[in-house]
Amino acid sequence: MKVKGALMRRAKISVIGAGNIGGECARSIAMKELGDVVLLDIPNKDKPELHMPKGKALDLACCGPVENFDSRLTGTFDYADIKDSDVVIVTAGVPRKPGQSRDDLVAINAGIVKSVAENIKKYAPNAIVIVVSNPLDAMVYVMWKVTGFPANRVMGQAGALDVARYKTFLAMELGVSVEDIQGLLLGGHGDDMVPLPRLTSVNGIPIQDLLPAANIQACVERAKVGGGEVVKLMGTSAWYAPSAGTVEMVESIVRDKKRVIPCAAWCENEFGVKGMNDGKGLFVGVPCVLGSNGVEKVITFNMNDEEAKSMRESISHVKDLIGATVKLFPELK
Ligand code: LAC
Repeated sequence: MKVKGALMRRAKISVIGAGNIGGECARSIAMKELGDVVLLDIPNKDKPELHMPKGKALDLACCGPVENFDSRLTGTFDYADIKDSDVVIVTAGVPRKPGQSRDDLVAINAGIVKSVAENIKKYAPNAIVIVVSNPLDAMVYVMWKVTGFPANRVMGQAGALDVARYKTFLAMELGVSVEDIQGLLLGGHGDDMVPLPRLTSVNGIPIQDLLPAANIQACVERAKVGGGEVVKLMGTSAWYAPSAGTVEMVESIVRDKKRVIPCAAWCENEFGVKGMNDGKGLFVGVPCVLGSNGVEKVITFNMNDEEAKSMRESISHVKDLIGATVKLFPELK
């Protein structure tokens, strides 16, 4: 990994998919000056005169003088331009429509992510890859399988977003700052994700001492379907908070901060994964130390019986999703 610190050259961060999440990631990366950004998308077949990634990059670049950033932003249709990327964010694929679950996207998005992965392997073979496309945990598996990258360099963004939703709802319920909520959430990026109230606090004060159990449970349930709540309101998937979660991960990597963030990371024995996927491992949301080597560590801890049961259910769902993906693309087995 080349990104080691402030005296090195700027990080190069490529964003595959210049839609809502991709554009917002580019904006946030530029505003935080985490590096230079390449926005890549495919041409619009119906409107060949348009160049959306170039347009978005130009529009964003012109925020620089107002918002005081010097990140360079470029837009392209050409994968050769992602060469030497330190980090590649993959947002390519279709978002959810009302009534759809993330799993409903597997048939279309698995093919898209597979082709993106082939290009990342070819043009940015040393990159750390953060997958955002849904269904998330299975798409991370596709990325890992196709690129053949070591597992520390392939991860999925989900926990950063899901735990942010969980904290937001708790802060609303408590009437305190979101900054003072600590919490953890594990599992797949589906409605069976596993928020952990036992490990949630307001600056160390257990949440159970501050809210009745029913109110905590309401926040847990709202977090689980938080993505769907936004889809119902907007007719498409969320993009601000998913981007915020993604950029939180990018920052920890390019600044080598070693933040502990829940990410979809490769597990073989951790959190009961052992034996859950026919003896193989899988990618699922677990607490990770993120630094310049990507996922530098998965942190494990003891769960109680109820938590372990929920985690098993979530892992089993991820396993089924990988099964559905492999059915479509047997070569990914
Ligand atoms: C969500 C999508 C991006 O949870 O997975 O909003």
